[in-house]
Amino acid sequence: MKKLFIKTYGCQMNFYDSDHMSNLLKDHGYKTSEQIEQADLVILNTCHIRDKAAEKMYSDLGRIKKIYESNNLTKPIIAVAGCVAQAEGKEITKRSPWVDLVVGPQAYTDLPKLLKKINNYPKKREINLKFPEIPKFDFLNFDKKVSKVSDYVTIQEGCDKFCSFCVVPYTRGPEYSRSRKSILEEIKIMAQNGVKEIILLGQNVNAWKDDSNESKTYNLGSLIEDIAKIDDILSIRYTTSHPLDMDLDLIKAHKNIKKLMPYLHLPIQSGSDNILKKMNRKHTSNEYLKIIELVRKYCENIAISSDFIVGHPGETHEDHKKTLDIINEVEFASSYSFMYSSRPGTKSSELDEIVDENEKKIRLLEIQNSLNRHQLIFNKNMENLDFPILITNKNKNNQFLGRSPYNQTVYVNEENLPVKKSSEKIIGSMLNVKIIKSNQNSLLGNFTNNV
Ligand code: SAH
Ligand code: SF4
Ligand code: F3S
Repeated sequence: MKKLFIKTYGCQMNFYDSDHMSNLLKDHGYKTSEQIEQADLVILNTCHIRDKAAEKMYSDLGRIKKIYESNNLTKPIIAVAGCVAQAEGKEITKRSPWVDLVVGPQAYTDLPKLLKKINNYPKKREINLKFPEIPKFDFLNFDKKVSKVSDYVTIQEGCDKFCSFCVVPYTRGPEYSRSRKSILEEIKIMAQNGVKEIILLGQNVNAWKDDSNESKTYNLGSLIEDIAKIDDILSIRYTTSHPLDMDLDLIKAHKNIKKLMPYLHLPIQSGSDNILKKMNRKHTSNEYLKIIELVRKYCENIAISSDFIVGHPGETHEDHKKTLDIINEVEFASSYSFMYSSRPGTKSSELDEIVDENEKKIRLLEIQNSLNRHQLIFNKNMENLDFPILITNKNKNNQFLGRSPYNQTVYVNEENLPVKKSSEKIIGSMLNVKIIKSNQNSLLGNFTNNV
């Protein structure tokens, strides 16, 4: 068999795509390998969300070229997939002429065909950036995919919201919801293959709907209800949600469906209405707070997290202060925060009042200090609690790992294992764990009460 080396950048949807790419290529004689030196085919599955992510791909391309040149290796086929491929297309082969193949996030099911063409005409470049009529999900092979205890399923892709700073509507295309039938089929196969936790993915996962049935429109709340009925699936999570698509069915699901974890990632980006408007987020900070209030009414202890962009064009000290205020008001359990990165082709990239890089760094530090403080408090409140944890793997220090219902990483000591189960049986089991210590980014616990 030939060897495939694949590197994934960016969001979880890219990781889902990479898994399916290697699965797809298995049938065409490629075995996935960790060793780039042995690869016959190298795929970089790229991200375009911020400048740094795209530049990383170019420096990796240079590094790969050096590896095979300095070791006198036969040049592997080099493919660029994902969002940089979609955004830059031909430019990539101009800047890095040793790239053979460029394939967009909706067109990678074409990889076997494109590889065949390259094998026949080795000097020719192949590019496919189409948004096909028949969605890629119809061509994926669910049966053979290697499954993890906790695994992802993309249910929705693309975006029609056009936030002014964001490239996703251009790289992933228009909003598309996969059919309920296809999703449930994939999840049932995953359950048979040992998957215990499903993480539903979408750029706007809560915009998912299936209205192909004339008598009933299914939404994310009802999809989660259906997934919860699959016995072997013990835990369900979803990400990323958009405030405009938070409906009551989904909020109520957090109260009514035990398998749905009490965690909601709901990005607000900024606490200032002035900036939210410039970002074209289509909601105010107060509207966001109202949603949080409602969510907490149905699920009191839910962990809320967000994304923040610091230093969007036009962001004043006043605006920045409002972001700090909303962080203190919501008391986020955890969050991601980024310095604004100007992306070609977006509305924000045309705006004046650019915030100075140094100023952005200072603001980011302030935001992160505040977020870290709340996260530490949230984690501290977990001490002495116990809850069931799905054990997903074991680390080099012989600790088991899993995620708390609130999405914190939990390390569990091996020596306190009360059940006589082999490691293999522990991994994939939902076991009670008592939290004995909390840190900034994780919790430590002992097994308890497990017969
Ligand atoms: N669909 C999701 C987010 C997808 S992108 C949502 O609407 O919330 C993931 C995160 O990357 C965004 O939430 C945002 O915080 C960040 N991001 C997107 N574009 C960015 C840019 N140009 N500069 C900095 N951060 C950006
Ligand atoms: Fe990007 Fe906005 Fe769409 Fe999220 S909702 S993917 S931030 S355009
Ligand atoms: Fe990056 Fe594309 Fe995901 S730009 S964040 S890989 S949708």
